[in-house]
Amino acid sequence: MRKRPWLLAIVLLLAALALLPIFVGEADHTVALMDAEIDLSNKASLQRGAKYFVNYCWGCHSLKYLRYQRLGHDLDIPDELVEKYLIWDGSKISAPMTNAMRAKDAEDWFGTAPPDLTLVTRRHDGGLNLSRGADWVYTFLNSFYRDDESPTGVNNLLLPNAAMPHVLWRLQGTAKPIYEPADPNTPGSQREVVGIKLAEGAGALSEAEYHRMTRDIVNFLVYASEPFRPTRKALGVPVLMFLIVFLAIIYLLKREYWKDVH
Ligand code: HEC
Repeated sequence: MRKRPWLLAIVLLLAALALLPIFVGEADHTVALMDAEIDLSNKASLQRGAKYFVNYCWGCHSLKYLRYQRLGHDLDIPDELVEKYLIWDGSKISAPMTNAMRAKDAEDWFGTAPPDLTLVTRRHDGGLNLSRGADWVYTFLNSFYRDDESPTGVNNLLLPNAAMPHVLWRLQGTAKPIYEPADPNTPGSQREVVGIKLAEGAGALSEAEYHRMTRDIVNFLVYASEPFRPTRKALGVPVLMFLIVFLAIIYLLKREYWKDVH
């Protein structure tokens, strides 16, 4: 057989590309991520997540790739209820979930415009601590702590100096930072925050209730990032079955045609 070095090169290149996400996908998080335990089959959780999202997040964050009607249809919420409880700005039910905040105003208010969140749970740009994902967002919502020097009064372990206020503080309470012990050899050194601690009864919800609430929100955001996912999954098996049957037919046909040639 003739040697084909270019073929080997292509195979190696493809293998390297396939492995790439493993290396770049894992961003260098210094904070251990919590498990969001996503369950897209839990409709009740997704419905609660949608309600929380429009109540607590939509004022600042749009979901511009998701339409209200699609949401209602997928989460078994009748159109009347979507109009009554989920649409706050008089949008048509066929409209995408954009909000009225202008990027320029938002920048003036927060310094950084709140990003659209439709795809936040799928954002993987590797390195630089920028990769997001369901666990990242879940941990983010559980990582605010008091910081009197920040303009919002809080900081976030996962996104240091985040411009987002702790919008759920009434529900969770605000955790206090735990500092690493000061280094006696370098007087005046900045002490690093290594963890946070939430006092019991600090917020209106218990810790377990707050976990459930933030999990519902993230579950909903994962749904919103790909409403088509259940259809895609359901479609996979029939498509493969079809291809297998089709292959068998083609094979039989080929045998039939080539019979006389041999
Ligand atoms: C008062 C406005 C406001 C509200 C309400 C708000 N956010 Fe934010 N959010 C921001 C701003 C501003 C940023 C940008 C932070 C930064 O980059 O420093 C942000 C950033 C984020 C990010 C990080 C996105 C990224 O890729 O960097 C996530 C995730 C997020 N918000 C989720 C939520 C969720 C979930 C809610 C509802 C519970 C919510 N936010 C409510 C203002 C808000």
